[in-house]
Amino acid sequence: MKINLLSHSAADWNTPLLVVLAADVAAAKGSPANPMLLTTHPALQAAAAPWLASGEFKAALGETFLLPAPTGLHARRLLLVGVGKTGQLSAHELRQGAGVAVRYARPRALRELALALPEHPSLTTAPALRAMAEGAITADFDIDFYRADRKDLSIETVSILLSGADLSGADLSGVDAMDASLQTAVREGSILAESQNFARALINEPGNILTPTELGRRAAAMAAEFGLACEVHSTEKLRELGMGAFIAVAQGSSQPPALIVLRYEPVSAPSPDAPVIGLVGKGITFDTGGISIKPAENMDRMKYDMAGAASVIAAMRAIAQLKPAVRVLAVICSCENMPDGRAYKPGDVVTAMSGKTIEIINTDAEGRLVLADGLHYAQTLGATCLLNAATLTGAIGTALGQINAGLFCNHDATARQFLDVLSLTGEKFWRMPCSDDYRDQIQSQIADIKNTGGSRFAGATAAAMFLKEFIGDNPLIPWIHLDIAATTWLDDQKPWQSRGPSGIAIRTITEWVRSYAG
Ligand code: BES
Ligand code: MN
Ligand code: ZN
Repeated sequence: MKINLLSHSAADWNTPLLVVLAADVAAAKGSPANPMLLTTHPALQAAAAPWLASGEFKAALGETFLLPAPTGLHARRLLLVGVGKTGQLSAHELRQGAGVAVRYARPRALRELALALPEHPSLTTAPALRAMAEGAITADFDIDFYRADRKDLSIETVSILLSGADLSGADLSGVDAMDASLQTAVREGSILAESQNFARALINEPGNILTPTELGRRAAAMAAEFGLACEVHSTEKLRELGMGAFIAVAQGSSQPPALIVLRYEPVSAPSPDAPVIGLVGKGITFDTGGISIKPAENMDRMKYDMAGAASVIAAMRAIAQLKPAVRVLAVICSCENMPDGRAYKPGDVVTAMSGKTIEIINTDAEGRLVLADGLHYAQTLGATCLLNAATLTGAIGTALGQINAGLFCNHDATARQFLDVLSLTGEKFWRMPCSDDYRDQIQSQIADIKNTGGSRFAGATAAAMFLKEFIGDNPLIPWIHLDIAATTWLDDQKPWQSRGPSGIAIRTITEWVRSYAG
């Protein structure tokens, strides 16, 4: 999708679909809706006025209202898109509004549309443009890749019309002369959203196609395209490194594991106090549970147990293009978790790369095992600050539902630095505890630790406590663990988003990395 920024007037712009956002400015809770266009443009105001007055369109979030052949406008159609109550109006609602416009146009085979840039006292132009670019691109995605009747509904061009907006002194005499920060906002939003869609396509792939080896190939192809260093290793290297925990999970599958390493080196000198950031991803391309096998119902979903890996690979894709002045390396641990004559078993004791011994209680708690070796390996490669992303526990959904993803962190300032970028990305993460008083849950009688607490309580924290065992504490390595198990797959579509892989975490991980570049 190409996003054009134009200083053209919305009234005489020729387009099959002109979109204007509207908010509900009702005074108080319970009082009737009071829809208001987010533009002062007189021709748009005039075209919409009777329909705003009629009460047929309330400007609720995601609501649409079409005006064919609107009088006084060159556009063939005018679409009103609601973004909800103004009290909450921020760039996030614009992200959704732009998405609604794209998902309105797609099934109608429209290839281009134009959006009037919203005006509102609480909106700043650059973040608004960036969010709209993100919303438009992430909306241009569907999951029906393997259907014979799949139609290419993608939108070729979205034009954002700046006329009428308060651009605080920006020069609108032409696109070339336009304030560079506005073009940058659109470019950054596009890079982030395209990377998000890249991850979603990977997560959507079935397990028979996206094997660990294939994930390695796709990561290598991405790295070659965007100028990242990439190595893909398999069983032999895992043995050499002594990754006994990762090997244990992988050994039950006839598909070989993949250990993927991506490296980003900045051209500009990293800021002197910048850490070397290590991103680690859980890449279980299918999780049957292994010998502790899962019930058949919904097991098909476990193809998306590599979403953490996809998020990390996609964040590296965005980082390679945004080029922050900070070193970043990524370690992906990918394998299948299968039952087999060679599979690891409950009761087994394995030795992780760090030297810690682990008693296996449940072979379905496999993600923490592969991550244990991935986190340790990232530290040996020089990472001084770690983040891992994983569809780790069903328990995180019990705690937080499908709204917030879980964040665990051993270092308050680092957690704050991550949570601070959420205001930019609009994603939702909620900090969960992982203090040492939870450690009893993973104490084993016969080995250093065991891989599950065996308790129904605080299951997501028990998993985090396990990972924390593999994080250096002298000196302390700041570490963030993102549990995205319950937020990775959307069961129901939204007016601005397809059902299926959400692509959560990519934009926030990328912005968090950028926040270390100073
Ligand atoms: N991949 C699952 C977690 C998961 C569950 C992801 C639902 C997405 C949706 C993970 O490997 C797992 O099986 N976890 C177990 C841990 C238990 C055995 C301690 C779980 O959550 O039940
Ligand atoms: Mn599992
Ligand atoms: Zn799993």
